[in-house]
Amino acid sequence: MTETLTTAVTAPMVRAWIERSAKVLADNRAYLTELDAPIGDSDHGNNMDRGFKAALEKLPEGDDIGAMLKSVAMSLISKVGGAAGPLYGTMFLDGAKPLAGKTSLSADELAQFFDDAVAGVMKRGRSDVEMKTMLDALAPAARAFREEAAKGSDIRAALKAAAEAARQGMEATIPMQAQRGRASYLGERSIGHQDPGATSSHLILQAFSDVVEEAAQ
Ligand SMILES: Nc1ncnc2c1ncn2[C@@H]1O[C@H](COP(=O)(O)OP(=O)(O)OP(=O)(O)O)[C@@H](O)[C@H]1O
Ligand SMILES: [Mg+2]
Repeated sequence: MTETLTTAVTAPMVRAWIERSAKVLADNRAYLTELDAPIGDSDHGNNMDRGFKAALEKLPEGDDIGAMLKSVAMSLISKVGGAAGPLYGTMFLDGAKPLAGKTSLSADELAQFFDDAVAGVMKRGRSDVEMKTMLDALAPAARAFREEAAKGSDIRAALKAAAEAARQGMEATIPMQAQRGRASYLGERSIGHQDPGATSSHLILQAFSDVVEEAAQ
């Protein structure tokens, strides 16, 4: 059997990504909040669920991918308080900027989206990898996507690699000492706990990989 290549992500796939993310975050609301209990304030699951429910309600009709992702960003920024709303909002906003009017995305455009998204979070959060944040999942995922896509432009393979890198990055936050956000107030006591934001980032990237995989079948 010959493997078909996925060389573009279409607007319906992006819509499905947002819908799946909302579902997965709702399904994992209690889990994310549990992770936020020992090193935060037990609200991450509620924050992400509330934000993506709002994003889904406001998601514009049509095939403009840039407009969809910008709308998600605005919903997250306006509906989610605390750290994660503005950070995820900035991630989608900065990632979406070059995508206005686009109805499908090539592997190169997606690689740029992930890089811009990561750069946006770093700037907004004044943060970097190894600080026990969402960036520990997002940054390796962006790198893995670019590296895998460079091998042959198969977006399915690249998204799979990105989701796997995010999973590993998420797990790698366990032994880290937090240097940003509420968890950093705990100092050494933040060691030994998985970061909730890295976990939601993994879920969102896994959702993207899953919907694109399903669309190709
Ligand atoms: N400066 C930052 N840069 C990147 N990510 C961050 C930063 N601060 C916090 N985070 C991420 O946000 C997550 C916490 O999100 P949550 O929805 O619980 O917001 P919050 O309770 O307001 O956050 P916090 O209490 O950390 O300010 C953390 O697990 C971490 O991944
Ligand atoms: Mg919190």
